[in-house]
Amino acid sequence: MEDLKNIEPILEIKDLKKSFAGNAVLNGFNLKLFEGENLVVMGKSGSGKSVMIKCLVGLLQADSGIIRIKDQDIEVLGRAELDLLRTHIGFLFQGSALYDSMTVRENLEFPLRRHKKKLKLNESTESLVQEALRNVGLEHTIDLMPSELSGGMQRRVALARALILKPEIILYDEPTTGLDPITSKEIIELMRNIQHTYNTSSLIITHDVDCARVISNRMILLVDGINYMQGTFEELSNSKDPKVQAFFKN
Ligand SMILES: Nc1ncnc2c1ncn2[C@@H]1O[C@H](COP(=O)(O)OP(=O)(O)OP(=O)(O)O)[C@@H](O)[C@H]1O
Ligand SMILES: [Mg+2]
Repeated sequence: MEDLKNIEPILEIKDLKKSFAGNAVLNGFNLKLFEGENLVVMGKSGSGKSVMIKCLVGLLQADSGIIRIKDQDIEVLGRAELDLLRTHIGFLFQGSALYDSMTVRENLEFPLRRHKKKLKLNESTESLVQEALRNVGLEHTIDLMPSELSGGMQRRVALARALILKPEIILYDEPTTGLDPITSKEIIELMRNIQHTYNTSSLIITHDVDCARVISNRMILLVDGINYMQGTFEELSNSKDPKVQAFFKN
């Protein structure tokens, strides 16, 4: 990547704080995501990675801090504006989170139904669903229920759902957790294809070192509630700091 210092980020988190019952999870976390990059946030289990991403999409209310997406401060936006802004963001939930009682088609139609009018998409719902499934190689599953799919297929359907509104930013929460190494590689390959095809900017949360190595342009380590260290995979994996080394040791 070129020198990023003078470029405006597409997404920025400044001094984010969030506590639960006096337990400070995020304690002044900062992050900048630049256009077209894959930024990996790594942190150990319970360090607040999902909390950070939930504050970002509004599933949790931060105690303080600034979240800016595409130059808009999300604190000052009204509900309708916030809703529209969210259509630019795809979110792959930790563990896929498909609706069990809906078919694959209905799962994918769900975000469309909510936002299609607002986005003035001309294509039919059916063709958008088919395109999204084609992107993840699962067109043939359109009428199946999630319970009829393997874990890896469910993750790919969830990915298709996150992509269906053609978002500029994708947030991935543990995209490879719970999958075998081969399926993990396939998911990572899909994520790379998506970045190339749509020039999306991605924030990827993971504790999978192999995933981070392959996918990241840049990384941030979340330790003790802050962005403890950032750099390329190579820079971080060569760090002498014991807290950083701990991530890369087997
Ligand atoms: N809604 C909530 N209410 C109370 N505590 C919460 C809530 N959500 C998260 N926490 C706490 O915040 C801390 C961070 O949780 P979080 O889910 O962000 O961890 P994580 O880094 O995503 O871990 P993992 O790698 O296991 O997914 C944990 O101690 C968790 O118990
Ligand atoms: Mg998590």
